[in-house]
Amino acid sequence: AVERTLSIVKPDAVAKNAIGDIMARFEKAGLSIVAAKMVRLDDDKAGGFYAEHKERPFYKHLVAFMTSGPVVVQVLEGENAILLNRELMGATNPKEAAAGTIRADFAESIDANAVHGSDSAESAAREIAYFFSADEICAR
Ligand code: CMP
Repeated sequence: AVERTLSIVKPDAVAKNAIGDIMARFEKAGLSIVAAKMVRLDDDKAGGFYAEHKERPFYKHLVAFMTSGPVVVQVLEGENAILLNRELMGATNPKEAAAGTIRADFAESIDANAVHGSDSAESAAREIAYFFSADEICAR
């Protein structure tokens, strides 16, 4: 089925001028970018986004990293978009990410791991609504 998923180009990838390379991978794989914006997250916005990780030991560090520089948030649309995006990203820890995946090619560590992608249909719906109003998403 055609799905939408939320993708974030994280501060490390923005800092190394990899936004275009990363977007190109989505488009070449058949996903369409139907919404996109560059934003500088504050503690509240990043903390709320990652609320499900609040009790994890890495939470504070994760919020600090995600607020360390601008990010690009985008909505990807296409057949099987949620799983396809996760395959394109590779494993959360770039040391375990398969060759040719975004994290294998652009990520430095499990913290500075270049991209975020929704992990389920439920997360995708919540995460898209967290960053975009309906009129900011452009139907194709
Ligand atoms: P992301 O997909 O954005 O979701 C949560 C993030 O927490 C994850 O990518 C990692 O960048 C970061 N993180 C840091 N340490 C861990 C860990 N031990 N397990 C999972 N995620 C971690």
